[in-house]
Amino acid sequence: MTDSSDTAPKKLFIKTYGCQMNVYDSERMAEAMGANGYVTTENAEEADMVLLNTCHIREKAAEKVYSDLGRLRPLKAAKPGMKIGVAGCVAQAEGAEILRRMPLVDLVVGPQSYHRLPEMVAAEGQQIDTDFPLEDKFDHLPERKALRGPTAFLTVQEGCDKFCAFCVVPYTRGSEVSRPAARLLAEARDLVTRGVREITLLGQNVNGYHGAGEDGVWGLSRLLREMAGIEGLERLRYTTSHPNDMDDDLIAAHGDLPQLMPYLHLPVQSGSDRILKAMNRKHTAEHYLRLIERIRAARPDILLSSDFIVGFPGETDRDFEDTMDLIRAVGFGAAFSFKYSARPGTPAAEKPELPAELCDTRLHALQALITDQQRAAQAAMVGREVGVLYEKPGRMPGQMVGKSDHLHAVHVMDPTGKVGELVRVRVIAAAPNSLAAERLPG
Ligand code: 5AD
Ligand code: SF4
Repeated sequence: MTDSSDTAPKKLFIKTYGCQMNVYDSERMAEAMGANGYVTTENAEEADMVLLNTCHIREKAAEKVYSDLGRLRPLKAAKPGMKIGVAGCVAQAEGAEILRRMPLVDLVVGPQSYHRLPEMVAAEGQQIDTDFPLEDKFDHLPERKALRGPTAFLTVQEGCDKFCAFCVVPYTRGSEVSRPAARLLAEARDLVTRGVREITLLGQNVNGYHGAGEDGVWGLSRLLREMAGIEGLERLRYTTSHPNDMDDDLIAAHGDLPQLMPYLHLPVQSGSDRILKAMNRKHTAEHYLRLIERIRAARPDILLSSDFIVGFPGETDRDFEDTMDLIRAVGFGAAFSFKYSARPGTPAAEKPELPAELCDTRLHALQALITDQQRAAQAAMVGREVGVLYEKPGRMPGQMVGKSDHLHAVHVMDPTGKVGELVRVRVIAAAPNSLAAERLPG
């Protein structure tokens, strides 16, 4: 005899913290579990399995995960048999400590072992896998199924060898591994046959890509050039890059490839050479500024974004002003800024921290400057013609929403518009976080 709970699909709830890499990984884990009879749910209460896909990059990440796990206790008590898993970088960094501190957790799985998730879920007792195996985890994950709209991410490399003094990525994601070019091209073609028109190549240090190609090792520019040859693939982007890996051919690709969109996220972290040195960034402010000049020479309308850390140990008012000067000199279209927070195990964590109020003041000043620049960049789009890829219907009847070439969110009144259409528009107004545009004929 079977009761309905045996036959009904089991439900998986995933909470994703942090970066795009994690969003992508969560989708792949959902697919892997889907192949084993799980459907996803938005509601943790009805889940048979709860998976926290964690991020370790910023403040008190592990403590937040422990407190989220604590909140799951009553759910698990009410639903015996519910499985709880911890994935992602906190899983990698904390490992068995999670199982020790939180006996309600059934499994801990690091980013290199996601293909083992279904077998770990099926196994009895607490499971842990945080190894860095040499095999390619992507070989084991099922073919991608559900696609959400006309855009997709494609992970081309993982890990980072840069060892910035504040960052946990080299420890949690390991050293750089690039996926073979032929596989990536095959996956990109497959995505396109299933309706994808824009692909963002992902990697922790994506422009450090050095994958096996048919005639030797390919850098990111070669991979982009080959991807641009895929019929139907209209748009390419890549993130996240390190300034030192922006080689000549990658810069040239921004001028050569119409598919490569005019938006580049290029973290600089600080504008002070003293702090950049202490951060082990291995570039100066001047080097960054010259690089921006060369990129703009290749693609004059490119919109630049960056990451900044304020309050790194030892940062003086002068150092902070250097960062503000760099921001003024570049003129960013967007940026992410963070207060420095010590990550255990990183070299910077050994150094004394600055007072919190000072960091707050600096962060607010920096964010105000960036907001001004962002608004100016959006206002400068008014009157211009750009491409927009429709991603979904808007909130108002007849409205479509998509991203511009420059990655601005754009609303267009277009009652006959369809998701997946790439249209030409003229921007008619700028709101704080989006643009309004009218569709152009043709
Ligand atoms: N403190 C504050 N911000 C950090 N980032 C990485 N590590 C830290 C840290 N310890 C920021 C960097 C990086 C972005 C993804 O997160 O700016 O580029
Ligand atoms: Fe971390 Fe990026 Fe530096 Fe690598 S390059 S160590 S991922 S901040």
